[in-house]
Amino acid sequence: MVEDGAARREEEGAEALPEVRGWLESVAAAGGLTALQELRVRVLGKKGEITQRLKALGAMDPDERRAAGERWNRVKARLSEAIEARKAALEREELVRQLAGERVDVTLPGTRPPQGGLHILTLVTNRLLEVFTSLGYEVVTGPELETDHYNFAALNFPPDHPARDSQDTFWTTDGRLLRTHTSPMQVRYMEENRPPFKVVVPGRVFRNEAQDATHEAQFHQLEALVVGERITMADLRGAIQEMAQALIGPGTRTRLQPSYFPFVEPGAEFAIWWTHPRTGREEWLELGGCGMVHPKVFEAVGYEGVTGFAFGFGIERLALVRYGIPDIRYLFQGDMRILEQFRGAL
Ligand code: FA5
Repeated sequence: MVEDGAARREEEGAEALPEVRGWLESVAAAGGLTALQELRVRVLGKKGEITQRLKALGAMDPDERRAAGERWNRVKARLSEAIEARKAALEREELVRQLAGERVDVTLPGTRPPQGGLHILTLVTNRLLEVFTSLGYEVVTGPELETDHYNFAALNFPPDHPARDSQDTFWTTDGRLLRTHTSPMQVRYMEENRPPFKVVVPGRVFRNEAQDATHEAQFHQLEALVVGERITMADLRGAIQEMAQALIGPGTRTRLQPSYFPFVEPGAEFAIWWTHPRTGREEWLELGGCGMVHPKVFEAVGYEGVTGFAFGFGIERLALVRYGIPDIRYLFQGDMRILEQFRGAL
């Protein structure tokens, strides 16, 4: 008992030292874990104030050293304890703050992430394929890098024929070319299949020509080829009319007028009646070429006793008509202000 009382007095005595009171106050006032850690280093660290005091004991005489040693060790223990307690309290406060900050209010409206969408050309192409598959056509695709044979020769464009000039393209150093139209797939498909059949070929094509509001150096075409017994020009007319109405609306007018392509006979161009978005004028928009498959093409693939029609047109041109877009180049610029207008358009 006596010893306890003496120890307590000794301890109270230690706390009564002004610097100890100051340290304890600083511990209580430490506003954060970093400040508290700094304080610990300053007081208890290797070069800390208490450590210095304990080091100084060596210079004292034995009695004094014993009393002072005990006192400073108690001060050290007292301070460590205070620092630990403050640390625990600060950590608790931090946790409470964090939990409060992270609380999720499930009743708040969510933030919508920006949604992507299909490009207008993809939408128009998908719609076209939907229309044709519903009419019983099969969808096939072919290579963009072609040979002269499939792109020209087998389609009855002899070498040096002037019709080749209308489809100038880009050549590779090994003599192949970027296809100028989707028509080469007519030949490729017929080589591998027997009639009757109905196919459509969507795909990218290339032309070495100057760009303007209706011309790009790369664009897309859709080719249709129907071969069987007694297929006539009336079937061709019907297919084009069907497509235009499905895409643009009932009553859409289409027109065929004579034209020349080496791989059809007779050949024609077909056009859609539209209102020009800038001038507001109603006029015919030339969409593509068509005709009855030329006997020379059938001969090249070994077909006999059948007839067929083919047509091919620019998908971009159709998108321009359908959505009143005044310039084909808008479709390739990636400008969101334009593209966003057609999100979910079809
Ligand atoms: C052809 O490409 C033929 N293969 C079409 C064909 C198929 C005829 C089957 C007969 C039978 P033409 O070169 O006219 O034809 O091009 C067809 C369409 O592609 C054009 O009417 C136009 O809509 C589009 N087109 C042509 N050049 C460009 C271009 N530079 N930019 C955008 N679209 C173009």
